[in-house]
Amino acid sequence: MDKIQREPIMLDVNHMMSDIIGFQYGIDVSEVMNMMDAAQAAQAAVEKHRGTGWLGWMDLPYNQAAILERIEKVAASVRKEFDAFVVLGIGGSALGPIAVQQALNHQRWNDLPAEKRGGPKLYVEDNIDPERMTSLLDVIDISRTCFNVITKSGATAETMSQYLIISDLLKKTVGEGWQKHIIATTDTAKGNLIQLSLKEGFELFYIPDSVGGRFSELTPVGLLPAAVCGIDIRAMLEGAAAMDARCKSGDVWKNPALLEAVLQYIAMEDRHANVQVIMPYADSLKYMADWFCQLWAESLGKNVTRKGMAVNLGQTPTKALGVTDQHSQLQLYTEGPYDKVITFLKVGAFRDEVTIAHGCEDFKDVAFLGGKTLNQLLDAELHGTEYALYRAGRMSQTITLPQVNAYTIGQLIYFFEMATAYAGELLDIDAFNQPGVEESKIASYAVLGNTSAKYVKKAAEMKGRPNLVKRYML
Ligand code: PA5
Repeated sequence: MDKIQREPIMLDVNHMMSDIIGFQYGIDVSEVMNMMDAAQAAQAAVEKHRGTGWLGWMDLPYNQAAILERIEKVAASVRKEFDAFVVLGIGGSALGPIAVQQALNHQRWNDLPAEKRGGPKLYVEDNIDPERMTSLLDVIDISRTCFNVITKSGATAETMSQYLIISDLLKKTVGEGWQKHIIATTDTAKGNLIQLSLKEGFELFYIPDSVGGRFSELTPVGLLPAAVCGIDIRAMLEGAAAMDARCKSGDVWKNPALLEAVLQYIAMEDRHANVQVIMPYADSLKYMADWFCQLWAESLGKNVTRKGMAVNLGQTPTKALGVTDQHSQLQLYTEGPYDKVITFLKVGAFRDEVTIAHGCEDFKDVAFLGGKTLNQLLDAELHGTEYALYRAGRMSQTITLPQVNAYTIGQLIYFFEMATAYAGELLDIDAFNQPGVEESKIASYAVLGNTSAKYVKKAAEMKGRPNLVKRYML
């Protein structure tokens, strides 16, 4: 048995509730009770469609035995053959790998000596900034690098542009056998990458049809980069399964993801809390916040219900880091508009402890820190922030990970995915599409002069915009 402790994460919503933070903004238990039927129906609907439509991610903890074996085999060979592993992907094809690496590996992984890492350096290239691409090429030896091209649609312009640049360079520098430097992770049938991979003979992993980009972290999208960096992907999936087991009830007081969805629904609909600030008090979790932001924003930000009614729904997720952003954002959270829920991510026990040295005995307000640990200071600051919000009657909640490990991260990922699916049901929207993103994609390709009919049409439509006014440009 490995050393990972398997403890449950905990959602504490005390500071969402009116009996704790007061009646003006706090949620009354009766409001939750009034939503019991809707919550039960939401849970039943999600459960009923498990594994079908876009709910394939619900089965991922259970149906990947053969895939896990292959991932571990390929990961072992990547660790042996290469010095760097570069993910080329964007959105749901990048945010999970970034978040999991930051959570579970050394925070300065790429700066560690190779023998301490025991695996390649990891770079996740989720943008097309030309300076970023150039700087990557400055620091990697392409002949010792493996590239994991990840795109569910197999057609995303950003990722395919990166592929074109890298494959050209590989052909020029490595020559014969350049294909061994590329692993593709994509849809089983759709898109260009699958065709290209079959033609070139790339190592290939599939993203199941029924799993959308932002729900794909527990497929090879996230599992391969994690395994390459030595992360226990089986424990991650075990954690996800443990959370799944906690989501079997339609009773909000027994199902943490359902309680979360119901409270956020009430916060959005009845308290105009249109913003959710996710605020980890741990650097290891800071990119989990980015991953959550995409999941919550793209899934819930919709302008039509499933019955076709025009709406404008969603809650804007935004991230802050404790304690750093106490010195940047907290003023706004405590005294600005009553439009936010603050979600703290708290770590029960950090993997390291650092003691603050004694000194400055003549300065009482400094000396009192001596002998305490940074862990105590961080914890006290989290309490302080929670208290300040409580005093101001602001809604906050805390998700505690007893430790940050593969098991608790698996739970956290699955918890947020379930909460998102339930919230989609409560809002009666399609939480699994992203038509608003498509518009921007089509417009960009039109600008670039793509000659397919739909882009030509879009280019013509774009010409109909009012001319820009010079006076407005200083
Ligand atoms: O959730 C989604 O589907 C999107 O945000 C995608 O992850 C993102 O657009 C990248 O798409 P793809 O993986 O197809 O390249």
